[in-house]
Amino acid sequence: MIRAVVSLVLTLVFAVAAVARPLTVAERDPAIEARIADLLARMTLEEKIGQMFMESWTEQLDLARVRAGDYGSIINFPSEAEARRAQAAARESRLGIPLLIGRDVVHGYRTLFPVPLGLAAAFDRDTWRTSFEWIAREAASDGLNIDLGPMVDISRDGRWGRTVEGAGEDPWLSARFAEASVTGLKRGGLGAALKHFIGYGAPRAGRDYAEADISTATLHDVHLPPFEAALSAGAEIVMAAFNTLNGVPGTANPRMTQDLLERRLGFDGLVLTDWDAIRELMNHGVAGSPEQATERAINSGIDMEIAGKFVPNHLPGLVRSGRVPMARIDDAVARILRVKFRLGLMDPPGSVTAAAAPVKLGSPEIRAAARAAAQKSIVLLKNEGDLLPLVKPPKRIVVVGHSAVDPSDMMGAWGAVAVQEETTTFFEEFKRRMAPLGSRVVYSEGCDDDCLEPISSEFSAATSAGRKADLIVAVLGEPWYMTAESTSRTRLGLPNHQQELLDRLARTGRPVVLVTLAGRGLVMTEAMPKAKAVLYAFAPGTMGAAALVDLLTGEANFSARLPVGLPRSVGQLPMSYDALPTGRPQPGRPGDDLWSRYVDEEITPLFPFGFGLSYTRFVHGEAKVVEPKLRRDGTLEVEVTVTNTGMRAGREIVQLYVRQTVASRSRPLRQLKGIASVDLAPGEKRRVRIAVPVAELGYHDDEGRLVIEPGPFRAFVGASSAADTALDFEVIGE
Ligand code: BGC
Repeated sequence: MIRAVVSLVLTLVFAVAAVARPLTVAERDPAIEARIADLLARMTLEEKIGQMFMESWTEQLDLARVRAGDYGSIINFPSEAEARRAQAAARESRLGIPLLIGRDVVHGYRTLFPVPLGLAAAFDRDTWRTSFEWIAREAASDGLNIDLGPMVDISRDGRWGRTVEGAGEDPWLSARFAEASVTGLKRGGLGAALKHFIGYGAPRAGRDYAEADISTATLHDVHLPPFEAALSAGAEIVMAAFNTLNGVPGTANPRMTQDLLERRLGFDGLVLTDWDAIRELMNHGVAGSPEQATERAINSGIDMEIAGKFVPNHLPGLVRSGRVPMARIDDAVARILRVKFRLGLMDPPGSVTAAAAPVKLGSPEIRAAARAAAQKSIVLLKNEGDLLPLVKPPKRIVVVGHSAVDPSDMMGAWGAVAVQEETTTFFEEFKRRMAPLGSRVVYSEGCDDDCLEPISSEFSAATSAGRKADLIVAVLGEPWYMTAESTSRTRLGLPNHQQELLDRLARTGRPVVLVTLAGRGLVMTEAMPKAKAVLYAFAPGTMGAAALVDLLTGEANFSARLPVGLPRSVGQLPMSYDALPTGRPQPGRPGDDLWSRYVDEEITPLFPFGFGLSYTRFVHGEAKVVEPKLRRDGTLEVEVTVTNTGMRAGREIVQLYVRQTVASRSRPLRQLKGIASVDLAPGEKRRVRIAVPVAELGYHDDEGRLVIEPGPFRAFVGASSAADTALDFEVIGE
């Protein structure tokens, strides 16, 4: 007992020592700081408050007000010409301070890449970086200089519709995704606004905007890593969350914005509200008037408001009456100006080299990049009897499902300025490319876009077309409008009557290939047995149809992995593979029936995080930990031999998970700590090594301090979060 106490004390002492993590956010440039101070000294209160307001474009936008310095930022311009006119007007203002010009460029501007959750499934940093670089280049070519993204919220509850906008359930994967997307955006010429700070991805029961209750340790271990990684990559802006975290709305939470983000993480960029979120403080019941809402928001560290006009209408009076100190206004404006300097906007146009040359929107090069990304984003869940690829194309194929002919469902939500005419539908593309191979492809809708009514004549037409065909390809799942903001769901099977349609197609006895479109982890329990092959495609974007056909025909191979586990039932949610162990993992003694389980369902997911098949087969051979005793400043290195034993070239995503088996607090059963992609020809074998600094194996205590505690660990290496190759190692320390 005494020894246990001693070791706990030592751990905490060490924890304190470990807090001083280096700040990796951008260094301040003294020349810029001097120019900011000079501007602040010359600005009127009205000009300062003007900087603190972001307006959304409307047809009534008055350029005289832009010239008067009434806006720090304008978003959602309908055209390049309008954006450039407004920017020119801002440069004509008394102090010539340009605008931040942005929009939600979530997964593409004119050319849509897969939705973020789909991109995440690529498990590939190069794909993420290059995709976001192209996305930014298109947007920057149209006069934008910031993205209202990326969304880096962790989501472990598929009921939440905005799961589609992030990288899924895992902190490590989401952090790498956040870092790569910010790097890509910056290279392509856009500043990044990380959102939504913090805990927006964990609303109660998955209901959008609802409260989150998150312990300090979980906040730091799970929700903060993607923000930290993206800040290290140079993100300039952070958007506060709409919802409450532990009872306090993100728009008025000084512990999060000022203590955590600014003081602890050293963030000196701009903190933005979400849309009209100052008003929402009254709905949250933390402000009784517009003045009080504005006062609370600004005094808690909000620097800029989007829409709502609370800042222009109420802030001047609050400053004059002393309720908001002038120092806070100067701090906010300094942050806004710092971002404008860092983005190169404060220098005369043409005097700084643009991050990337302008591109022609929708050019073949960008479409090719979107197609390559889409190929890597589609997960193969099942392929019974190697039904796919369609090497010996069936003579008659029927395509079923409204999404097969609706370009919007390929494109997905948050389409920016993309146009449907530039997106081929699945049916058109499949028919065109199967014709030369001798297949006749016909279409039968089966059910309209929301499939609310099981219209038996339409079901029957599809099933009778199915009966006459050699293969049925059903394109089902979530239409675009069931994903993204305010689209929480309580039932996560195929929406509405789609499952009945699939059941009837399966009853024809013809082989069914199911192409699933989704913005989250759906419950595929009933759908899986009805199809011989199942693809999980998210919304694959402008070139999604081309990529799907590339994969179905075998012109490309699958390598994507699930960035969220697929639950067996909604009752399992929220769910993530990195749960803590329980004291009752299985029956303790014979006859014991009290253990951590559901009496009506398995506790495991239907498909684990990290799962995905390929047209080839990979065998993971001899694995070892290079050095099984490591110091805290050491690096864990794990090696494994991977062999392609199949007939096709393919890419394996080797995944390394780690568990600390004994520690002062209960640690997750496993946590992803590294991945390696290997491209292997048939028969080829390669030794793969994944290295992880021991410093990344720590956890946070109840005060949010980092603890790297010596003790026994276990590494799991393999092809998903269910990998069963286990290797022990130890972290030693004083
Ligand atoms: C969303 C943000 C988005 C903003 C501006 C809000 O409703 O929550 O993510 O950036 O609108 O479009």
